[in-house]
Amino acid sequence: MVSILVLHGPNLNLLGKREPGIYGAVTLEEINSRLEQEADSIQAKVLCVQSNHEGTLVDRIHAAWQVHDGLLINAGAYTHTSVALRDAIAGIQMPTVEVHLSNIYRREEFRHHSYIAPVAIGQISGFGADSYVLGLQALVRHLRSVASS
Ligand code: DQA
Repeated sequence: MVSILVLHGPNLNLLGKREPGIYGAVTLEEINSRLEQEADSIQAKVLCVQSNHEGTLVDRIHAAWQVHDGLLINAGAYTHTSVALRDAIAGIQMPTVEVHLSNIYRREEFRHHSYIAPVAIGQISGFGADSYVLGLQALVRHLRSVASS
């Protein structure tokens, strides 16, 4: 069964209370349970982890090597700052989809650049919690198409 590591970066533990005008009312727990349901329905597995610490996220990415088949990541603010996360993903060469709840290109200029995008298969941004579900579907489809080619 395809196994996906879902990483949530800093401040995403505050979803539900955090800037609801931008991020909506959905909590991280609700997002994780939606991902688990979707994974079940497409015969995949997800492990969901959140951390506010860049080094912990780097360690989690390293530990995913040969354990998971793909990475679904919302790196939060580290998207725009972290060469370390980018290098970790490049280092383990794991197929990665980047997701964001908000449309980062409609927001402040500093959110328009992603260090993750060049090492990801693709990015889904702006669909709220659906970004994660769409990202999971796209990642699993990608992994299956690569496996069958
Ligand atoms: C975010 C967008 C980032 O710019 C921000 O720092 C976040 C959340 C999103 O999901 O829309 O923490 O990644």
